[in-house]
Amino acid sequence: MLWPVLFTLQAVCTSVVHAMQHYPAAWGHYDVCKSQIYTEEGLAWDYMACQPEATDMTKYLRVALDPPNITCGDPPETYCALENPYMCNNECDAATEELAHPPELMFDFEGRNPTTFWQSTSWKKYPKPLQVNITLSWNKTIELTDDIVLTFESGRPEQMVLEKSLDYGRTWTPYQFYATDCLDAFTMEPKTVNDLTQRTLLDIICTEDYSRGYVWKNDKTVRFEIKDRFALFAGPRLHNMASLYGQLDTTKNLRDFFTITDLRIRLLKPATGATMVDENNLSRYFYAISDIKVQGRCKCNLHANSCVFDKGKLGCECEHNTTGPDCSRCKRHYHGRAWSVGSYLPIPKGTANICKYGSIFKIGSNPRFLKKMKEKTIICPQTRVCDNAMLRCQNGGTCHHHQRCHCSPGFTGILCERARCQGPGQCDDQLSGRASLHHHPIGCHSPCILPLSALVAPTQSCVT
Ligand SMILES: *[C@@H]1O[C@H](CO)[C@@H](O)[C@H](O)[C@H]1NC(C)=O
Ligand SMILES: *[C@@H]1O[C@H](CO)[C@@H](O)[C@H](O)[C@H]1NC(C)=O
Ligand SMILES: *[C@@H]1O[C@H](CO)[C@@H](O)[C@H](O)[C@H]1NC(C)=O
Ligand SMILES: *[C@@H]1O[C@H](CO)[C@@H](O)[C@H](O)[C@H]1NC(C)=O
Ligand SMILES: *[C@@H]1O[C@H](CO)[C@@H](O)[C@H](O)[C@H]1NC(C)=O
Repeated sequence: MLWPVLFTLQAVCTSVVHAMQHYPAAWGHYDVCKSQIYTEEGLAWDYMACQPEATDMTKYLRVALDPPNITCGDPPETYCALENPYMCNNECDAATEELAHPPELMFDFEGRNPTTFWQSTSWKKYPKPLQVNITLSWNKTIELTDDIVLTFESGRPEQMVLEKSLDYGRTWTPYQFYATDCLDAFTMEPKTVNDLTQRTLLDIICTEDYSRGYVWKNDKTVRFEIKDRFALFAGPRLHNMASLYGQLDTTKNLRDFFTITDLRIRLLKPATGATMVDENNLSRYFYAISDIKVQGRCKCNLHANSCVFDKGKLGCECEHNTTGPDCSRCKRHYHGRAWSVGSYLPIPKGTANICKYGSIFKIGSNPRFLKKMKEKTIICPQTRVCDNAMLRCQNGGTCHHHQRCHCSPGFTGILCERARCQGPGQCDDQLSGRASLHHHPIGCHSPCILPLSALVAPTQSCVT
């Protein structure tokens, strides 16, 4: 009777572990967008902030290499081990499946034996640099929830940069620099993630943690530490996610820091081992990556709890009458108030900020249309009236003449619900009714909302 007992115990253990992975205490909930509640008037819906579960995002990406012909095997090549130029049994031949090392092998199932990996051509053109860009694209904004981990099959590069894009690859900003000698490679002081504080969390650092030393057999990984950064707000074991969520809610830069549409790994100099480059045997120098880990979730602005991969494209399944790949707009006929991102606060259910039935004019690109709207249609949505207890001016705005919110600096929108975008090309000229739809490289995605005053003729009265 010993066996069944053991077996049960093990089953209990694994199910506990599983449950913890599913609902890490750290992460709070936000897995439900709405629920039915009983009120005095009967059954009604209660709406909450919600987001999809974090998952392995490498299943949904597109990978591009630059230069495109940098993968080894065409023509076939034989490589020697970095630490032993006489060990030359690594053969690459693109035309033979068992000997080919295409980029897909960076994302395949790990744990195969022998390991599968992508490999570059060798540093044949030394001293001309051997540089490769590996670009990962999702064509969707995603939020990182765990460390990015690259596993190198050969030595880790002596110099590399991890970059991110938040605008589908149009502009790039560095995430982290990696080098054996940061000063020499990038004229940056070497730092580690442990040097960061809450105030410097968004600083871009150069680290020597993942390149130094000649112990490649033991440590093959290069990390971008997301969790250590979270921990600056949420505590060492991420036990206080409320604090992090509070920060994410109020600090747009912080939220954007962990949000990406693309990643780029710029490999700048391969491992050369402890010694100088051996010009007589350049087959020892190359890049090889066996695994890339990117954990995250679709960014749905807290308006969806699931994200689907359909026809090669990720998209949020929007609730709260929102729509768009990121739920960043109100659905047709649901423009009763300006679209707004959901809020993590108050913990644990947050605030849904659903789109309401009705219309507010959103600036299209067509001024003719606007003029027509001005002349013809005047709709006075209830949201304009700020003296209704439900529709208070937010963020310190004050209600004037029972009609209009005067917003505190930095906020805008009918009820002062949105932070005004700052930076070039932004809707910083709203009061005159002009607005642009430009995107800030790391910022504002929502279209600017024209104040109703610009549309409602002065003689019309709009009190409901
Ligand atoms: C890699 O991308 C950067 C921009 O992020 C570009 O400046 C550089 O030329 C590219 N390098 C290669 C080898 O394509
Ligand atoms: C890749 O293509 C470029 C341009 O077509 C060429 O100059 C280069 O030699 C090629 N590199 C390799 C490793 O074949
Ligand atoms: C590198 O050294 C090994 C061992 O001497 C040799 O077999 C191999 O051909 C060398 N490769 C080159 C390119 O010289
Ligand atoms: C990216 O997604 C948009 C829709 O959101 C689609 O129109 C476009 O074709 C996609 N681009 C690629 C390269 O898949
Ligand atoms: C839109 O929101 C209303 C509540 O304001 C809800 O009753 C309705 O089902 C929603 N419609 C859709 C299509 O989600």
